[in-house]
Amino acid sequence: MAGSRGEFSSRFGFVMAASGSAVGLGNIWGFPTQAASNGGAAFLLVYLLLAFLLAYPALMAELILGRHAHSNSVAALRKVSGHRITGSIGALTGITGLIVAGLILSFYAIVAGWMIAFCLSALATLSGNAELANWLTSFGLWRNVLFLIVFLALTIGIVSAGVHDGIERWSRRLMPALLITLVILVLYVFTLNGAMQGLKVYLMPDFSRVLSPQLILDALGAAFFSLSLGVGTMLIYGSYVSDDENLPLLGGIVTLVDVSIAVLAGFLVLPAMYVALHNGVEIFNASGALISEDTLIFTVLPELFASMGLPGVLVSLVFFFLMSIAALTSSISMLEAPVAYVTEEHRIGRRLTAWLIGGVIACISCTILLNFDTLFGFIIALTTRYSQPLLGFMFCIYAGWVWRRDSLLQELRKGYPGVQEGLFWKIWPWYVKVVCPLIILAIFAQSLLG
Ligand code: PHE
Repeated sequence: MAGSRGEFSSRFGFVMAASGSAVGLGNIWGFPTQAASNGGAAFLLVYLLLAFLLAYPALMAELILGRHAHSNSVAALRKVSGHRITGSIGALTGITGLIVAGLILSFYAIVAGWMIAFCLSALATLSGNAELANWLTSFGLWRNVLFLIVFLALTIGIVSAGVHDGIERWSRRLMPALLITLVILVLYVFTLNGAMQGLKVYLMPDFSRVLSPQLILDALGAAFFSLSLGVGTMLIYGSYVSDDENLPLLGGIVTLVDVSIAVLAGFLVLPAMYVALHNGVEIFNASGALISEDTLIFTVLPELFASMGLPGVLVSLVFFFLMSIAALTSSISMLEAPVAYVTEEHRIGRRLTAWLIGGVIACISCTILLNFDTLFGFIIALTTRYSQPLLGFMFCIYAGWVWRRDSLLQELRKGYPGVQEGLFWKIWPWYVKVVCPLIILAIFAQSLLG
């Protein structure tokens, strides 16, 4: 069955594709910006705890459910339910996740479009066309619409090509290049004046902020967003993993790669902010809050690149190119989730489905752009801060309570025959059953009451 739906051809291919989904704007645009506006190190600390203690177990729930069902999230949640009612609630959860995936893509494509525009702007500068370069980096409706459509068209094109030729091939090549560029940039930023102050903010926690309900809720959303959870993306990628793979190990690698890149990006963005501040760029308002969070990195990074002189234009070109690619390997996973559902359940061709769903998302993105001030932040909060953790909660409930334990164990044994003797089986089953749902609920309760 799996063969006819497409499957990752190797372990490396899966790890790259799933890390490709996980690593994206969330790591390099979202996480450092949130860290910067939430007290730096305090946010980093809570984020790390939540990523390993909560997001990793939730990721495992999705991967295992996906591989067991070898199908989309709606069918998978239905399959593990022994009862009609749990089956329907599961299907509803799955469908809600797919809608949230589409909404995430609608704002994601806007930001990714900015990345493409900044990349082309570096090219325009190199070819001496300053006017074009300036247009490409100025916040204007037409620029935004144009590049969001370019980005969505690329996403749709790759998803139309299927798992092996599209998703896997792209992810394998470009993820390593992104990592190397980031490391080089981090090393460079450390040499500049002001960087050490940023480093201090990033690494020395203000413990009085660690317990702030808002900070914890933001960090929870950031962890779930960063690992692409709750919306069926990881579930569908899990469904393309072959039965002989050791899932807990693969999930662990993906989590580690994702968290490391977010942390690494923090080492770039926070010092870069303070370098920019040192050079006279206004970043904070009078009350000490960040001036424009959404576009922060589009202010401070170009400032950093400019400080490098001509080589900076090349670095800017490479950086924004890789960011566009990182965004692309994430956006294809967002689109893949609903496309897989529609093609599998309604037997409509993959290409047509991808264009239809992509078209609807483009319309939503344009609506957001036309009402930017009211909708942009609202959709981000609705999807990442609230929907993803709550949907993750449901996936934990299905893996922990609804799915029969012997069937779950059998699934894990496939690629890991000794699983029962290992640490994973001793901890994870009760952990997703009790601890994960309780922590998620507690964080929400605390933020509502606080
Ligand atoms: N994890 C991706 C990022 O960090 C975003 C994402 C969210 C991807 C949900 C797929 C599903 O950029």
